[in-house]
Amino acid sequence: MNRLGPIGIFDSGIGGTSIWKEIYALMPNEDTLYLADSKHAPYGTKSAEQIIELCKKNTEYLIQHGCKIIVVACNTATTNAIEYLRANYELPFIGIEPAIKPAALQTKTNNIGILATKGTLSSALFSTTQSTFASDVNVIEIVGEGLVPLIESGNLNNPILIDLLTAYLNPMLTANIDYLVLGCSHYPYLLPIIKEIIPSHITVVDSGLAVAKQTKHILESNNLLNNNNNPTLRFLTNADDLALGNVLLDYKASIIIERIDF
Ligand code: DGL
Repeated sequence: MNRLGPIGIFDSGIGGTSIWKEIYALMPNEDTLYLADSKHAPYGTKSAEQIIELCKKNTEYLIQHGCKIIVVACNTATTNAIEYLRANYELPFIGIEPAIKPAALQTKTNNIGILATKGTLSSALFSTTQSTFASDVNVIEIVGEGLVPLIESGNLNNPILIDLLTAYLNPMLTANIDYLVLGCSHYPYLLPIIKEIIPSHITVVDSGLAVAKQTKHILESNNLLNNNNNPTLRFLTNADDLALGNVLLDYKASIIIERIDF
């Protein structure tokens, strides 16, 4: 692995940019290469076999482009494919999983909510994590059906999002949750709407910062940290780049967005 290679990051689309933002804030001297497989989104409704195939394709693309580490910035991809990826490729992989553990440790009402894709909630890895860290907590699991395609369409103000989120969050409010786990890297972009629906005493948690810290830790311990004062920050998408551009507006001057076929 070359210390000067970029950090590779992939997701089924634009959601993993929420992780990229944490990575860039923590390691501003790293080159990054982000792959948005928006053409194949959503992953969350696909079978584990299909998800693994897509992850192989993304991984090989990032390896061909010299990445020194790969961040699987998608809960659905991590929970279904990270074991396969770690067993079949040599470079280090960092995954993202729903932050059930901190929520279960800190809840006072003993009720926590998790909003994630069907692919994540039905995965073996999620069920192991849940039984390890949250077996004595009441976990209200809700599939955020339809949310990812709406976020990918680039209009975060679509009123349908309010209706869907209200329907998904209501059972959690009825169950008196005090922690809401966002178990999909797309969902942090829904926070402004979520905060209008839930009362302010509910803490919303996601895993973005933890993933960035773990990435830094693994790079450091493998002597792979870079120190580039003028890093290249590339974003590749195989679909319309409108949604990607929208969520990265604040970084427009420093990044490159390219449309590619893969
Ligand atoms: N960002 C992905 C995740 O974290 C979205 C999955 C999807 O494409 O359905 O799960």
